[in-house]
Amino acid sequence: MIDINKLAEKIKNKVALTKIEIYEAVENYTKNRISDEQFLPFIKAIYEYDISDKELYYLTMAMLDSGEKLDLTNLKSVVDKHSTGGVSDTTTIIIVPICASLNTKMLKLSGRGLGFTGGTCDKLESFKGYKTDIDIQKAIQLVQQNGGCMLTTSKELAPADKKIYALRNKTGLVDNINLIASSIMSKKLACGANIIVLDVKYGNGAFMPDKKSAKILGKKMQKIGKYANKKVKIVLGKMNQPLGFNVGPKLETMEAINILKGKEKSNLYYDSIKLASICVSLDKHIPYFVAKHKVKKVIKNQTALNKLKTMVSCQDGSLDLFNQEYKTPTLVIKSNKNGKVVFFNTKEIGNIVAQMGTVKLEENDTINYDNGIRTFHKIGNKVKTNEPIFYIYASSKSMAKEVGNKLKKCIEIK
Ligand code: URA
Repeated sequence: MIDINKLAEKIKNKVALTKIEIYEAVENYTKNRISDEQFLPFIKAIYEYDISDKELYYLTMAMLDSGEKLDLTNLKSVVDKHSTGGVSDTTTIIIVPICASLNTKMLKLSGRGLGFTGGTCDKLESFKGYKTDIDIQKAIQLVQQNGGCMLTTSKELAPADKKIYALRNKTGLVDNINLIASSIMSKKLACGANIIVLDVKYGNGAFMPDKKSAKILGKKMQKIGKYANKKVKIVLGKMNQPLGFNVGPKLETMEAINILKGKEKSNLYYDSIKLASICVSLDKHIPYFVAKHKVKKVIKNQTALNKLKTMVSCQDGSLDLFNQEYKTPTLVIKSNKNGKVVFFNTKEIGNIVAQMGTVKLEENDTINYDNGIRTFHKIGNKVKTNEPIFYIYASSKSMAKEVGNKLKKCIEIK
């Protein structure tokens, strides 16, 4: 039986682990041959001490090889995009139909809300009836038919990551660049795309606190991709405020629809244009500015909007949301002074909205798709006294009041 403490000791003493040692540790844990307590020193050692790029690659591959790998060779070229998470980050629902409209194929497996971050699957399910848990063969067929498909992550892909992630979550070992890089890349490599665009966010609404750490994370993931013979592009993005205007599953989906209608232009719009243009440019081997022109065109002529409608219909989702306007909010929070917006406590905004029932915090929780908030200003915007700064959509007046009191502390106007 593998001696985990010996491996941990080697990491501490900077003695390189072999591929076999890393594979054995991961396999024994994933197959329940060793307990959480027995495996923990291995993860703790990686958390506390650095490991080499080669060891990080073996760790990623061990997690990847613990499960199935999608074979997308029939689709020829497929692009995957991954955002490292944040608040009001709805880029997937905007980018996939844009790329699909331009015949850049995307098979996008997404997760649910986690802590302060919303999840793409929860947002997609705000189209009534939308099936996120479709069979992978059906998803591949939909990509062939429509150019894109958005569904939930499969339990069969990188199961070792799921088990290790749960252990990290339970033991406070999430925020480590090597562990994050291997976790993300094991799942991305399992998804089978030949081009991977990684949108690494940093700031007070993201996992990475600053640009420097986002850059290091990006470089590590790029290196893993290079070892695995994949084209990996890193895009760094600031997240010091909600990316879009809305936070909450249905509100964010409505904003994505409005962006594809050419009606709303928050930072979410600009980030989506940039990411979609990068995906198309890499897939079609065309310059970025040419791809950007094409991306803007499919928004302007509503091809991307109609593509999203087709994709939603193909997964049994209702199209009602495409014709809905924002409802009257439960409560409006107004500015009590003239000034400029200088700060958002973005993570706290994400936490507040998650606590409105929009993110599953416990396994048996049900999601409230309608709750959330709408903002109107970005950092640097001027605001006048009595101008609305937040619309609150809540299940009750008392919830709205409580949320309002908390939100007032999440914005600074000077
Ligand atoms: N997202 C992941 O998939 N894994 C991490 O470890 C952190 C963010």
